[in-house]
Amino acid sequence: PTARFTLDPTFTIGKVNPRLFGSFVEHLGRCVYTGIHEPTHPTADPEGLRTDVLNLIRELGVTTIRYPGGNFVSGYKWEDSVGPAETRPRRLDLAWRSTETNQFGLSEYIRFLKKLGPEAEPMMAINLGTRGVQEALELQEYANHPSGTALSDLRVTHGDKDPFDIRMWCLGNEMDGPWQTGHKTAEEYGRIAAETARAMRQIDPTVELVACGSSGQGMPTFAEWEATVLKETYDLVDYISLHAYYEPHDGDIDSFLASAVDMESFIENVVATCDHIGAKLKSKKKINLSFDEWNVWYMSTFQEQNETDPLDWPEAPRLLEDNYSVTDAVVFGSLLIALLRHADRVTVACLAQLVNVIAPIMTEPGGPAWRQTTFFPFAQASKYGRGEVLDVRVDAPTYMTQKYGETPLLHATAVRAEDGSVTIFAVNRDRTNPLPLEVALGALDVTRVVEHSALADPDPDARNTLTAPDRVTPHTVEGTTVEEGRLTAVLEPLSWNVIRLA
Ligand code: AHR
Repeated sequence: PTARFTLDPTFTIGKVNPRLFGSFVEHLGRCVYTGIHEPTHPTADPEGLRTDVLNLIRELGVTTIRYPGGNFVSGYKWEDSVGPAETRPRRLDLAWRSTETNQFGLSEYIRFLKKLGPEAEPMMAINLGTRGVQEALELQEYANHPSGTALSDLRVTHGDKDPFDIRMWCLGNEMDGPWQTGHKTAEEYGRIAAETARAMRQIDPTVELVACGSSGQGMPTFAEWEATVLKETYDLVDYISLHAYYEPHDGDIDSFLASAVDMESFIENVVATCDHIGAKLKSKKKINLSFDEWNVWYMSTFQEQNETDPLDWPEAPRLLEDNYSVTDAVVFGSLLIALLRHADRVTVACLAQLVNVIAPIMTEPGGPAWRQTTFFPFAQASKYGRGEVLDVRVDAPTYMTQKYGETPLLHATAVRAEDGSVTIFAVNRDRTNPLPLEVALGALDVTRVVEHSALADPDPDARNTLTAPDRVTPHTVEGTTVEEGRLTAVLEPLSWNVIRLA
């Protein structure tokens, strides 16, 4: 059986916000230290940043980068991270049972972003776990006020004459999670988020603020949490956050391959909740979604690691260093498709995380940096997924999954660029059979296939590693054609596909 859909330039979902291709750098494990920052590395620049990693991040096409956590932020004292590096304090990081040296801090983060290029934009999380309104205001003043006040002048004396101009701020992190330092009820969090937002807007009414939504659709407080928080903050914030991580459970790969079913329902349920509160408040304003943590994460493996040495406080330990397979990359690609399919409301998204920690880029201290399998779908989506998302409604054969019931074997979206060229992103979830695909191109102004690239492998468990960094890369698929307004392709078993048309 063949999978089919129709594309039409007038049937659109919405324009892709470049912020959809954001990522996340947390002080966690080796994401910062020996990931991004390693002054003794042979490729380090004068500021201690690994230029081999900077090059890979540029190639990945990352835009917004959320910082400094994550769970880490709920114990973060921003003052520790500024000023001369040699005088910065060492602190216990409760979130990850590590020692934080503060050798990389706020100023280094902003400089790091500047080196990445014009699309790299800060997204700063504030600590609403152990701290509150006053500390948020002080950080905002230090970071964004030009000069002439104690904190802005302090920034200038620290060597940063120009304000950092941080537009996007996350009001805490995963405050619904009992694991979070300073975990709160929805009522408690709604209040402190509203108070903080109101005060931050007194400094600058134009800042963009993200309220914490649920740290997963499976949380017992899901949806009620969003509703309660939004009742307090609706007029004061711009976004609500979503976090989701996927992994196979009990070896059920078929359900794992359908993870995007959960992600799409999560998005749709949060949109419904936001709009319900908007309707109750008789508001014309729409709250958008910041999917500011998403990925494949073998979380159960991490929990075992954490339990082995509970009394140690190491510096930059190896934590959450998942090594991704081809299967993981296909699921990952499908998650990207889910985000693009909801580009009208998901206007910020951050792949968690960027380097070493559940990351597309891996490094060895003093050694090389390389691309994981998940690097490729992200880089291709960021490069070619710019423009208007077309409404894709697939008519595809299905398969049975334990978690989600009958699920289409094809998951797809398409993006039309300003020059009229179109890129189709498609995943074949069938682990054994190729999937024939036909797309009616309707009134689209495209006549030829520029490229059909696929990530697939006879070994679904193949991965890139330190010793075999290029074992898995995308390859070109021959035989994909456009004739008389119809695209014909065959999607390899268990594959991520990028079909570019012009
Ligand atoms: O990204 C890893 C962790 O996952 C983050 O610190 C936290 O916000 C989430 O639970």
